[in-house]
Amino acid sequence: MAAAGMLMAWMTGSSYVWAGDANAGADVFKSECSECHSVKQGHNKKGPSLFGIVGRAAGSLPDYHYSDALHQAPWTWTTDKLHAYLSQPARKANPGTKMKYSGLDDPKQLEDLISYLDTFH
Ligand code: HEC
Repeated sequence: MAAAGMLMAWMTGSSYVWAGDANAGADVFKSECSECHSVKQGHNKKGPSLFGIVGRAAGSLPDYHYSDALHQAPWTWTTDKLHAYLSQPARKANPGTKMKYSGLDDPKQLEDLISYLDTFH
């Protein structure tokens, strides 16, 4: 277990050294997230628009009906926070959320995806 933990830490650390590839991230977004999310401003689907998500306070869009769990979440979405949140089941990262997503465990895909999201401001 300790070795696995260290390996995870090493992989996560190293993924920050490669800057993610936003073009590859667009494909990850399409296959993993676009069923429920759009990156267009003001366009909510099953989930809220992810336009400008990096730097946005959690649960803060005025025109989307959030669960209490996300509405009351105290954090702001930084790249680190998105990394931690999306690498595990959403219901574990934010108990009570209505986002049904089991997590993305490929660190390269995750980094690419977050780089992609960070291009929408
Ligand atoms: C099956 C639908 C579904 C999928 C797939 C999904 N989400 Fe979500 N997501 C939601 C819903 C619904 C919410 C709102 C949750 C709540 O209010 O508790 C949400 C909320 C979020 C939030 C918080 C937004 C805010 O305004 O605070 C982020 C960030 C997010 N999702 C990112 C992603 C990313 C990135 C992916 C792809 C890796 C993804 N989601 C995949 C349904 C989904």
